[in-house]
Amino acid sequence: MVFKALMVAWLAFLSSLTSAQLPLNAIYRTDFNSSFTFSASQIQAGQLDSVLIKSLENNINFDRSQLAFGGPREDDFYRLPSLTNETGPLQPGQLLKVQAFTDQTAYSIPPNTALSRIIYTTTNFNGTVVPASAFILWPYTPRQFRSQSHLAHSNKSKSNVTKRAPVVIWAHGTSGFFAPQSPSSHRALWYDDSAPFPLAEAGYAVFAPDFAGLGIGNSWDGSEIPHQYHASPATAHDSLYGLRAALTAFPDKLGQDFVAMGHSQGGGVAWAIAEALAEEKDEFADLLPGYKGAIAASPTTDVFGSPERSFLAAVVGQMLHSIFPTFGLGQWLTPLGVARVKLAKDLELGVGPIVELLLSGNDILRPDWNETWFADTFSRLCNAGHKDFEGPLLVLQGTDDHYVPYSITTKTVEETWSRHPDHDLEYVVAQGVGHVPDLHATKSIWLRWIDDRLAGKPLNKRGSARTDLESLLPIEQYLSYDNTFQAWAGLPQYQYQVPLAV
Ligand SMILES: *[C@@H]1O[C@H](CO)[C@@H](O)[C@H](O)[C@H]1NC(C)=O
Ligand SMILES: *[C@@H]1O[C@H](CO)[C@@H](O)[C@H](O)[C@H]1NC(C)=O
Ligand SMILES: *[C@@H]1O[C@H](CO)[C@@H](O)[C@H](O)[C@H]1NC(C)=O
Ligand SMILES: *[C@@H]1O[C@H](CO)[C@@H](O)[C@H](O)[C@H]1NC(C)=O
Ligand SMILES: *[C@@H]1O[C@H](CO)[C@@H](O)[C@H](O)[C@H]1NC(C)=O
Ligand SMILES: *[C@@H]1O[C@H](CO)[C@@H](O)[C@H](O)[C@H]1NC(C)=O
Repeated sequence: MVFKALMVAWLAFLSSLTSAQLPLNAIYRTDFNSSFTFSASQIQAGQLDSVLIKSLENNINFDRSQLAFGGPREDDFYRLPSLTNETGPLQPGQLLKVQAFTDQTAYSIPPNTALSRIIYTTTNFNGTVVPASAFILWPYTPRQFRSQSHLAHSNKSKSNVTKRAPVVIWAHGTSGFFAPQSPSSHRALWYDDSAPFPLAEAGYAVFAPDFAGLGIGNSWDGSEIPHQYHASPATAHDSLYGLRAALTAFPDKLGQDFVAMGHSQGGGVAWAIAEALAEEKDEFADLLPGYKGAIAASPTTDVFGSPERSFLAAVVGQMLHSIFPTFGLGQWLTPLGVARVKLAKDLELGVGPIVELLLSGNDILRPDWNETWFADTFSRLCNAGHKDFEGPLLVLQGTDDHYVPYSITTKTVEETWSRHPDHDLEYVVAQGVGHVPDLHATKSIWLRWIDDRLAGKPLNKRGSARTDLESLLPIEQYLSYDNTFQAWAGLPQYQYQVPLAV
């Protein structure tokens, strides 16, 4: 019976395809359109053995197959519009390009969501204006609240109001370090079901900056735009200037009200957004009235406190000269580490291959790496936490988080509570939960929190508050990690893998 029902559904689906000739089902291959192999000089430079070569090539080809339209280096969208004299001197938050309709056929996003992308200006850590990209994932129907601030002018007839969607800024966690690793070019928008998909399905317009350096890798003069990884004040600016540009691009579709949310690197960004809105009230006076709060999930508040110190030193170090011009990567890494980082940069490798390249074999970190002032100064300038912030702030953390340890977040939260006892900061701790899985464990809580803030409801807990969550069943019964990825099956010859497509 089930089989018959499936066949009926399948036939209905096939007949819905408009192509006159159906392609035959094809065997799905994860390397379906990438065939990278290392050159002899790359193998020598990175001191790669045959086992590592094979594994890396597989990983790199998989990564590249996850890029919609071949990614930023191939997709025309990411080509910078040329500056004319009419553009005038560039200000941050300026809209440079709008792709109102992004063809979704190369993406694996939920049905009845839609995608737009923009290019806009932001500033790097030291204040230079640079271009950056972002996506907007649209809901089918916007979440509606009794407050009318997200509704456009009612055009006389009350039954004929133009709906605008309330916004959630989505600040992504580590997607990579180079231009191709922009979430806006990843088929599943990098965080898929962990946050942007459920947010759009709940009726929010998800505004997601790629963060400068991801997506657009070079400025107008051709100079490199390094992604200033973990420089949370800079990435917070990317988010807020990006929102300003998005509101310019879609004034009748985006409401003024927003919540900022992020995870991991982006958790630090969401927290830094709350800090920027307290510190730079004049700069963001246009956005402040719409701000309803921030959610920092597994936030990075002590970057080098992570157990993955070697990796962090390498990927922060590879861009650090853009903040501290006297810094050289050889001050932190061994010669092999420097050579491998250079190879990763030349090939613009994604997170998976970089982890493998940097962490297989010998430790690449020099034992005396932290005897210079760079690590301390970077941490002091760039870590989120401790400072004054515009609340309310919800911090989410799992106790079994390897990358952003529970002990570190707890320390930052407690110190922030003691410095700002009059601010609203709720700390929600999920027992036995890991890094990204925390977003899944607490999904009903953060969706409800966003809803309540945008509806203008009072907070359940004011001031410094802690909430502890435990699993309903014994924690050993739960799947503790994600073993599923959004596999793109967009071409008709692969559609047999999507029995519930239509
Ligand atoms: C991979 O497929 C996309 C279509 O989604 C295409 O635009 C891109 O050029 C292809 N990349 C390679 C390396 O073949
Ligand atoms: C732009 O302005 C500069 C300086 O005022 C001028 O030299 C140049 O000819 C102008 N370019 C165009 C295309 O108008
Ligand atoms: C009324 O609606 C039309 C069509 O949606 C729109 O073009 C127009 O700008 C609206 N007028 C006002 C005052 O909002
Ligand atoms: C809504 O407004 C538009 C533009 O003014 C108009 O074309 C349309 O007929 C209106 N619909 C209803 C249900 O009043
Ligand atoms: C950027 O700012 C930092 C902190 O103020 C400063 O130490 C550094 O010299 C600046 N770098 C550049 C390139 O201006
Ligand atoms: C420097 O880093 C090492 C690990 O690489 C750590 O054991 C040591 O405590 C650090 N020293 C300082 C002063 O932070």
